[in-house]
Amino acid sequence: MADIIDGKMFAESLRAGIAAEVASLSFRPGLAVVLVGDDPASKVYVANKVRQTAEVGMRSFEHRLPAETTQEALLALVRKLNADAAVHGILVQLPLPGHLRADAIIAAISPQKDVDGLTVSNAGLLANGLPGLVPCTPLGCLLLLRDRLGDMTGLNAVVVGRSNLVGKPIAQLLLQQNCTVTIAHSKTRNLPELCRGADILIAAVGRAEMIKGDWIKPGATVIDVGINRVPAAETGKTKLTGDVAFAEAANVAGIITPVPGGVGPMTIACLLRNTLTAAKRIEARAPAVAEV
Ligand code: GUN
Repeated sequence: MADIIDGKMFAESLRAGIAAEVASLSFRPGLAVVLVGDDPASKVYVANKVRQTAEVGMRSFEHRLPAETTQEALLALVRKLNADAAVHGILVQLPLPGHLRADAIIAAISPQKDVDGLTVSNAGLLANGLPGLVPCTPLGCLLLLRDRLGDMTGLNAVVVGRSNLVGKPIAQLLLQQNCTVTIAHSKTRNLPELCRGADILIAAVGRAEMIKGDWIKPGATVIDVGINRVPAAETGKTKLTGDVAFAEAANVAGIITPVPGGVGPMTIACLLRNTLTAAKRIEARAPAVAEV
């Protein structure tokens, strides 16, 4: 049976460290979170972000906009937040309603305040191995992996999923750790066989339990980024399931993250970490420098 990573506990200790550092600062870092529309899952995520921002002693600025908000109105809000000295981090919750162009909205966020690490500027810094702001979920995966594995030099890492939010940035981070990285996606051939070669397997596809136990190399480290809502057979209510068939996989893997309670809690903790990083840089009026 695999060793199960307790992401909730890891995230709690990360947040405690952030809170202690925030308390020692001569200013209060501020995070603005923007939610457009009424997507139920996004509402829950945003409420958690707002609550945890306040819990570590930061200022939280919540902006809830109606689903019919125009591109121009949202751009105007982003520009206002860019110019607001009390705001050090800006997060626009995704997905946005269909009529809004997320790329253009993200491009309007000041790279120094881009605590999601989604601007082309921060993505480019990451791709070039330079310090910038790194997307929160990939950063959370990296912290868990470094804690468990230490030196990852030479390990085969397979990332299933190629999104800008998770797949591509986690691949860059693993490359920086000297892993041999393969990015797989929906058009990849022989996916089970490819996965069986992975010492580190990152599942970030958004398909419930797609990755089976016999796709996993015995002793591998499996990081499940999936958060899928599926009906629970027993109750008929929805339950959260990862991209990995956990029960099967845990019999083969050496180390595995559960869903919920694995990567999920790390995402918000890393958002707070990025906000602290951004705030310190902005207040120091320093050029973009930071450690991952
Ligand atoms: N929606 C789901 N995850 C995320 C995230 O990490 N950042 C943003 N902005 N939206 C999300």
